[in-house]
Amino acid sequence: MAIEIKRCTLEDIKTLQKVGRETFYESFKDQNSPENMKAYLEKAFNLEQLEKELANKHSQFYFVIVDKEVVGYLKVNVDDAQTEKMGKEYLEIERIYIRQTFQKYGLGKCLFNKAVEIAKALNKKKIWLGVWEKNENAIGFYEKMGFVKTGSHVFYLGDEEQTDYIMVKTLEG
Ligand SMILES: CC(C)(COP(=O)(O)OP(=O)(O)OC[C@H]1O[C@@H](n2cnc3c(N)ncnc32)[C@H](O)[C@@H]1OP(=O)(O)O)[C@@H](O)C(=O)NCCC(=O)NCCS
Repeated sequence: MAIEIKRCTLEDIKTLQKVGRETFYESFKDQNSPENMKAYLEKAFNLEQLEKELANKHSQFYFVIVDKEVVGYLKVNVDDAQTEKMGKEYLEIERIYIRQTFQKYGLGKCLFNKAVEIAKALNKKKIWLGVWEKNENAIGFYEKMGFVKTGSHVFYLGDEEQTDYIMVKTLEG
């Protein structure tokens, strides 16, 4: 399988919207109401919102492409683009999503390694993320990648208040 990781630009916005919506929906549809899911998808993945995020110089999006098909994506934030005030030492992985049929082939790890590469290039010391407490699969993956739980914060899916664990990994070297 030919794997490519490509930085997204404004030209990719429609593809980003599609992969963003589809991967979020397939990951969380079974554990959330259709109304809350619809509200979140509209808020988080409308073109105006994505345009703003793509234009933010402290955020970066990447596609993972397998045999020319976009099968997942990564979003990282630094400085004030982070969704919590974690400060200058940290890079946030805000989104890391692989389409269901492509999971468990090492692609999540490819995107994670990309995040580490960006963090090191920017002289960051730590990577952090928020993960839904019920997302056991992702928590297992993050633990395997060396993250540890350090706290929690609130996340809204539509009008439902959910708890996200905050997990942190300290970079070596
Ligand atoms: C979480 C996610 C990104 C992981 O990506 P993936 O491509 O399935 O994982 P990989 O195949 O790259 O796994 C890398 C390593 O982690 C391990 N791993 C993966 N999932 C695991 C789990 N649930 N528990 C323990 N280890 C796990 C793999 O065995 C592999 O180990 P290795 O390096 O020794 O071979 C992917 O499952 C996904 O997109 N899930 C849905 C969306 C989601 O929940 N995103 C996170 C939102 S916070």
